[in-house]
Amino acid sequence: MVAHSYQLKRADFIFKNENDWERILDKMLKRPTRELINELMSSELKGRGGAGFPTGLKWKLTAEDPSDTKFVICNADEGEPGTFKDREILTKVPYKVLMAMAVCGYVIGSNQGYIYLRGEYKFLVPELNKVIQEFEYYCKQIGHDFSIKIFLGSGAYICGEETALFESMEGKRGEPRNKPPYPSSNGYMGKATVVNNVETLAHTFTIFKYGAKKFYDLGVQYSRGSKLFSVSGDTPKPGIYELELGMSLQDFVNEFGDGDTKAVQVGGASGFLVPRKRFEKTTIGYRGKLTGISLPTGGSMMLFNSSRSMYNVLDNYLEFFREESCGQCTPCRVGCQQLHFGIKAVKRGDKPAQYLDKLLKLTETMQLTAKCGLGQSVANSFSSIVENFREEMIY
Ligand code: NAI
Ligand code: SF4
Repeated sequence: MVAHSYQLKRADFIFKNENDWERILDKMLKRPTRELINELMSSELKGRGGAGFPTGLKWKLTAEDPSDTKFVICNADEGEPGTFKDREILTKVPYKVLMAMAVCGYVIGSNQGYIYLRGEYKFLVPELNKVIQEFEYYCKQIGHDFSIKIFLGSGAYICGEETALFESMEGKRGEPRNKPPYPSSNGYMGKATVVNNVETLAHTFTIFKYGAKKFYDLGVQYSRGSKLFSVSGDTPKPGIYELELGMSLQDFVNEFGDGDTKAVQVGGASGFLVPRKRFEKTTIGYRGKLTGISLPTGGSMMLFNSSRSMYNVLDNYLEFFREESCGQCTPCRVGCQQLHFGIKAVKRGDKPAQYLDKLLKLTETMQLTAKCGLGQSVANSFSSIVENFREEMIY
């Protein structure tokens, strides 16, 4: 493990009001598409929804696909517990997202964009529609044919998974498909589709306006740029912060903790719980040789102080996963239920503490055999909580 001397640094790009977006759009639409892809690739922007796939490569693969029709989808189904950054972007700087979608459409050869909006964010629709109308009007004026529609989700967490999102948009049950094929060749309606998270699109605005280097110069190797973090829990400063990637969790806790932080859940319920003894050694960034343990996923940071029961935290996550599992595959449907029953039985004293080891084995099986990220990621929070706070799980 590499020791870090990196200090927490704030950035101020995402929420900065840019009143020259029309000029930037005009400029981008005049540039060769290959140049725009190269700009994104050299910025090393990775998807900010969670998985961290290189954005430039995603656009490139979709641009190269021979599909006759293509789509651009902004994934605004922000459902990860503790994550509330995309809502703020769509409220405060929606035009950045729309502009990025239009540029993406130009690059891949699509004239239709969709915003898949979390059902609970319905209240954003009237204002968003207003901005979309103005935006489309402007696009028409400059001869760029690109339209954007909002598709409202119905409250299922799983529909944030991109292939379940397609199913939902196509009027079917929101259940994940097998991947591959990836959306870059087989997405919405079976056509090549770029699906980007709201924040990812907002960062592309920064890159197109200020250049790849400005973005690349922030952060550390493998983890370039800044990221929004939704900070909640036992903190005197809850809220949304744009920070450079690469800080140690200790730096983060020094800034946002209440002086008594015993653990931080990094990346929401599908992320990992990091206990105090690992704060110094944990870097917030994408995986890479130099960055050690690194797990920002969607950017949810929940701080817990010593008054919190980690059993209650895990109980809460498992209830969430049980409820949100789409039920399509057995490891996840039955696994989530068994994990939840299991920890309750141990806590009541109906099962011995060693039963937790069986449950840990079960999460390994789920990680290997569940069909999508939901079932595969239950192991993250389960194992990190049980292994680090075992004494709080038992009777
Ligand atoms: P994934 O690793 O399967 O894919 C990531 C992206 O890269 C997808 O868009 C996928 O299509 C693309 N991709 C991957 N390999 C590719 C290839 N060879 N060719 C073309 N495209 C490729 O991850 P997934 O399941 O899409 O997302 C999981 C993440 O979502 C987790 O990290 C989780 O934390 C996060 N998440 C975020 C939520 C939120 O509210 N922001 C909610 C739930 C989960
Ligand atoms: Fe559905 Fe869970 Fe299987 Fe994903 S892992 S397809 S959510 S049952």
